[in-house]
Parts: sequence; structure tokens; C-alpha cells
Amino acid sequence: MGEALLSRLINLSIYEPSQILVSEPQPARQDFLAQKYKVAVTADNSQVFINSEEVVFLAIKPQVFTAIAQELSPYIDQSQSPLVVSILAGVSLSQLEVGFPGLPIIRAMPNTPATVGAGITAICAGAYTKGNHLDTARQLFSAVGEVVEVSESLMDAVTGLSGSGPAYVAIMVEALADGGVAAGLPRAVAQKLALQTVLGTAQLLNETEMSPAELKDRVTSPGGTTIAGVAELEKAAFRSALIQAVKAATNRSQELGN
Ligand SMILES: NC(=O)c1ccc[n+]([C@@H]2O[C@H](COP(=O)([O-])OP(=O)(O)OC[C@H]3O[C@@H](n4cnc5c(N)ncnc54)[C@H](OP(=O)(O)O)[C@@H]3O)[C@@H](O)[C@H]2O)c1
Repeated sequence: MGEALLSRLINLSIYEPSQILVSEPQPARQDFLAQKYKVAVTADNSQVFINSEEVVFLAIKPQVFTAIAQELSPYIDQSQSPLVVSILAGVSLSQLEVGFPGLPIIRAMPNTPATVGAGITAICAGAYTKGNHLDTARQLFSAVGEVVEVSESLMDAVTGLSGSGPAYVAIMVEALADGGVAAGLPRAVAQKLALQTVLGTAQLLNETEMSPAELKDRVTSPGGTTIAGVAELEKAAFRSALIQAVKAATNRSQELGN
């Protein structure tokens, strides 16, 4: 996820490679990142904090957060106070503020489509975060898709919907393709039809701002094919399954955060 952001921030010229310092423990990855993105690379996390003028971006696994915050604590200079942006799932603003006392903090939850610039990121702001910090965070994450601001209490629900959602949609694409194969289509054709139907429907809903219910009503003619398919989805409790999936993932996110 960190590389996805790095790549697009440079490609969109939001930052020049010369403005970026990446901390990466593995020598092979260091060489790869330096060569591919022409950024400065270090294995010393403290260098990022010491040299940062604007933003320190945390893209480590949540499990190593406490150790890294401890490692960085001697280098926190509140007079310099760079904005700390965290994408760590389940690490709360209060945990981040204990790790980085007095610093402006943004907690963010991007999703996997960010890697192709089609993500959506929810952000929320810590106690020392000002309007200009929020603007910076919005600009950072707009490099990988859409940005919404939410209160922190909604971050678990964001995780359950847009964070976990790509898996639900991937399963739907796979199942639609299986349906096509069951109906006699070659796999490759079925896969293409399924994928483009999901992409195209999302694009149509997005561009026309039509409600999903309205689109469904428009394509279901009386006694027609689509209503026959919709009736089967209702029989199989398709809507309820998706609602329960989002709720279950939200609950799991809450559990993991405790
Ligand atoms: N992937 C997603 O869709 C997604 C969505 C939302 C939020 N997130 C959050 O994004 C964060 C990163 O997830 P990811 O999937 O991108 O994981 P990842 O690929 O494992 O990335 C973690 C990065 O941290 C580096 N790292 C490990 N230990 C380090 C240390 N001591 N100091 C500095 N860097 C260190 C790793 O380097 P090596 O690879 O060399 O070990 C790797 O580059 C997680 O907190 C996750 O919760 C991910």
C-alpha cells in the first residue's frame, strides 16, 4: 500500500522523488525502490522523522507499530511537528497520539483499488490536526482515488465496507462468471462479461448519480429476464448476505482494535 501511494504521488507530480525519503528494512527492496522511483532510501526509521518537513507516512504492519513508535520517540520534535499519516488498520488515533505525542495525526483507511488509482480512503483527524493538515492528507490520498472524511467512531464500519468490500465484489465477479459458464459461455468470455458488467454498472451509477434502486427498476421489464434473475437473488437472500458481511467485518474490525 505504501508503494502504491509512493508510485502515484510521483507519477502525478504531487511530490518530486527528491522530496521523498523511504525507510525500508530489506536491502533488496531498498535497491528496487531507489532504482524504480529514484527516491532516497534508508534502513533507519529515525532518519525519516529527523528529515521530514511536511509528512511522515506510516505504512508498516499494525503488529510492529508499538516497537517502531518506541524506536522513534527520541526523535520526536514537537517544534518541527510533521504531520503523521497512518494507514495502519485498527490502530486508533489515541494509540497514535500516545506514540507521537503532540503531533498532528491523520488516521486513514485506504482500500486495495488504491494500487490502480481507483481506491477510496476514509480519513479522520487527531487532536492537534489543523485544516492545512487535512488538506495535505486529502491531496495525498486523492492520488490513489476518492477521499471521504469520517469521525473515528466510523472507521470500523469503513473497514467493513470499503476495506473488505473488494473481496465481496471479487467473489461476485467470480460467481457471475461461473453462472455464465453454467449457462454455456466459455470461461474467458464469461469472465470478461462479468468483470465489465460490474465495472460498467459502477461507472453508470457514478456518472449519472442514479440510485441503485432506480437502475434496477429500469432494467427489470415486466415478466422479463432480469426480474427472473432478481427473484432468484432475493430467494437466496443476496442483499441480506451482503448486509451481514459488512456488519460481520465491522464487528471483526472492532474486536481486532480492542
Ligand atoms: N493492503 C491493503 O489493502 C491495506 C488497506 C488498508 C490499510 N492497510 C494497512 O497498510 C499497512 C501496510 O499494509 P500492506 O498490506 O501494504 O503490508 P506490507 O506489504 O507488508 O507493507 C509493510 C511495509 O512495512 C515495511 N516494514 C516492516 N518492518 C519495518 C520496520 N521495522 N521499519 C520500517 N518498515 C518496515 C515492510 O518492509 P518489508 O516488505 O521489506 O518487510 C513493508 O514494506 C498495514 O498497516 C495495513 O493495515 C493495508
